Amino acid sequence: EKGGHKHWMSKEIAEQPSVLADVLAHYLPGGQLTFPGDALDFTGIDRVVMVACGTGFYSCFVAKYWLETLARIPVEVDVASEFRYREPPLSERTLAIFVSQSGETADTLAAMRFAAGKCRIASVVNVAQSTIARESDLALPILAGREISVASTKAFTCQLMVLALMAIKAASDRGTLTQDALKGRIAALSSLPALVSQALAVGPQINDLAQELSEAHDILFLGRGAMYPLALEGALKLKELSYIHAEGYASGELKHGPIALIDSHVPVIVMAPSDALFDKTISNMQEVMARGGKVLLVTDAAGAEMAGHGCWGVIRMPEADPMFAPVLYAIPAQQIAYHTAIAKGTDVDQPRNLAKSVTVE
Ligand code: F6R
Repeated sequence: EKGGHKHWMSKEIAEQPSVLADVLAHYLPGGQLTFPGDALDFTGIDRVVMVACGTGFYSCFVAKYWLETLARIPVEVDVASEFRYREPPLSERTLAIFVSQSGETADTLAAMRFAAGKCRIASVVNVAQSTIARESDLALPILAGREISVASTKAFTCQLMVLALMAIKAASDRGTLTQDALKGRIAALSSLPALVSQALAVGPQINDLAQELSEAHDILFLGRGAMYPLALEGALKLKELSYIHAEGYASGELKHGPIALIDSHVPVIVMAPSDALFDKTISNMQEVMARGGKVLLVTDAAGAEMAGHGCWGVIRMPEADPMFAPVLYAIPAQQIAYHTAIAKGTDVDQPRNLAKSVTVE
């Protein structure tokens, strides 16, 4: 039933081109952006609050970049276990979005119940019959299909796809993008399933690096812009699967402390498409290399050409709209965690101490 795959995780990673295409078919039938109900009308909204746990939180964090840049709407993101304790002010002009694969996570549900009646509530869920879906004003399905491996993979990229479409809807409602710009962004999202499919081909190359990664005690992930939350997600995936200590940092933060950790034993994984921020990220990467750090650069062909020299490894991604690159670069992040865990001999689908659905606060 794993369709020839050794683990559920590898099956679920491989399914991403097809489930992402399902999301597009659902929300963009005939190329026309379609969201159910009018609860997702952004015209009367002046603030978005996004709440989730773990990988879902990183989806929200990526979406903050999209909603703020494309739709010019202020977005606050928080982990569900913190959200309600500071009694955040909410109003009828606030849209609160709760993101959960299972739809049963206790912290997220408690945060949602705190917000209920104070503002508009939407959820982005995989399990359509779940409590979180049932209790929200509007439940947007991510259509990833059942996710069995404890580590979230296809649910993450499907969450991102739904949230990206939502950002485009918000931009359209608020008139912050021209018709041509909207069309361009929709075309960029529509090209992602094929690009993700190409990205899957880097698996064997990552497998070749995995033995060395598996011997590390600490690994850093760096990203800038919307790739910063992806760096956080890459670190989470790696630590939960391989039990290697990993941290994600905003590339520019490195020099404010974490650079003290760098020596030849700490691999640094830089996730950087060749976008407008590339030069800055590369100079951060060179600071690492000057201190003997071992850099694995994940970039596109142009980025590899400009900055690949002297890196320990270079992983080449297809060219994509830099704004939506986190969807594409999620693939190598997942594969780095997967292959490193296999090299270490840990239980990929059932990591120690973790459960698929966390129903206690
Ligand atoms: C990480 C992972 C967890 C979940 C988190 C939230 O790979 O799977 O961090 O993302 O427990 O779960 P859901 O999305 O079901 O609310």
